[in-house]
Amino acid sequence: MRYIRMSQITPGMKLGTEIFDSYGRVLLGGKAELTEDYISRLKYLGFDGLYISDELSADISVEPIISPFLRGKGIDCVRRQDIDGCKQIAKEMVAEIIDKGPISIDMTDLRECDDYTYAHSVNVALYCAIIGLSMGMDEKSLEELAFAGLLHDLGKMSIPSEILNKEGRLTQEEYQIMKSHAKISYDAIKERWDVTPNVKVAVLYHHENVDGSGYPTGITGDEMTLYTKIIHVADVFDALLSKRPYKEPYSAYEVSEYMMGACGIMFDTDVVLALLKHVPLYPKGTEMIMSDGRHCIIVENKDMHNLRPIIRLMDGTTINLMDKEYYNITLVAAVSADSISRESEEARNEMIQSYKRYKIMVVDDMVTNLQMIRGILEYFYDLTLLKNGKQALRYLEKNEPVDAIIMDVDMPGMDGIEAARRIKEELHKDIPILFVTTLNDGETVAKCKAVGAAGYIVRPYQPAYIKSEIKRIITGRGDAE
Ligand SMILES: [Fe+2]
Repeated sequence: MRYIRMSQITPGMKLGTEIFDSYGRVLLGGKAELTEDYISRLKYLGFDGLYISDELSADISVEPIISPFLRGKGIDCVRRQDIDGCKQIAKEMVAEIIDKGPISIDMTDLRECDDYTYAHSVNVALYCAIIGLSMGMDEKSLEELAFAGLLHDLGKMSIPSEILNKEGRLTQEEYQIMKSHAKISYDAIKERWDVTPNVKVAVLYHHENVDGSGYPTGITGDEMTLYTKIIHVADVFDALLSKRPYKEPYSAYEVSEYMMGACGIMFDTDVVLALLKHVPLYPKGTEMIMSDGRHCIIVENKDMHNLRPIIRLMDGTTINLMDKEYYNITLVAAVSADSISRESEEARNEMIQSYKRYKIMVVDDMVTNLQMIRGILEYFYDLTLLKNGKQALRYLEKNEPVDAIIMDVDMPGMDGIEAARRIKEELHKDIPILFVTTLNDGETVAKCKAVGAAGYIVRPYQPAYIKSEIKRIITGRGDAE
């Protein structure tokens, strides 16, 4: 079977999995043939895509991590705010996860838009348990973690849905109301003797960031329990993968990038790594575009962070991208057009609004270089992309200063070093500058140093390297910390 976006579903296609409503009842059976009627009903319910089964994908099986039955029961317990029931579900979830053996989070969650909070809570519980297991925690702890996951957003049911599902940016007042849900969730369980302090604390602090920029209290990583760090990662991970009224779902590849980039700011690095061990960059059954423009479906991954999976072309040919003859082909990261639109960028900011967005200026005469840096950094920073030193000077004259500049050294007309000197001497702006160049000679390095370079990167570089350099320059902390 394979995953297809709702917009591409046509009558006559056969379902690959059962579809459940938000009460866990079967809406459509596993092999149902889709009719015009079914399709419009599913669209109306807000389903973003479906797994279909066809000849092309007959041998691809994508497994849910827990049984649909248990998932349905979990959703129902959360909806009814049945705390005892949630405790029992947490136990059963952990038992299924432990039974399952190696876990790969391939399956895209099929769900209605309406039941987001309930289905989200079940997913967070699931991811909490997977992270805990990956970190070697015992069964009791995994059950506590999953229990906390099921309960963490109980307070959202007290938030008006106009705020919860608002498409645009929240006002300050609305945001304050939204933030109160963590405390309300905690209040619902704080008096209960049968809920452990570990669970209570994790629920209360599930929106805290390790750099102290979260809520409700603004505690830092040192003050956060491991449970708290885990639930925070699981929460954001599922939110990014989900369709919301104000955002499209992000691909596994984008989510992995995002999570890694926010380590040390929002998340604890060990916790993120423990989760990403189970997240394939190209999940089985998803459609991708290759660098030569052809479409393909992911058939199998050799290991989790495999960039060269076995794929199937739309004409049925199966190719192993590990084979030498296909080395020239790469998969184009599935960054949907929507996710780089203005609105979506705002939605992304919305989700992480408690964490400061730094401003970075990038100056390079090559559009491809600008695009590449944009691809690496735009999720994490507000970028201003400029094509030459003159534009940079003009921009800085008229606008608020930026937090850092990434400057190409080799540009026609005014080179990067000259531009840096003029920013310092003429504009009297002391902005840290990271130089990027293909020249790795002593003279260039000396010149960069002479104008007070904050760093120096030689092309070609690893995306992770420029990310950690920028982070080091801005925050004074590297990725290792
Ligand atoms: Fe929350």
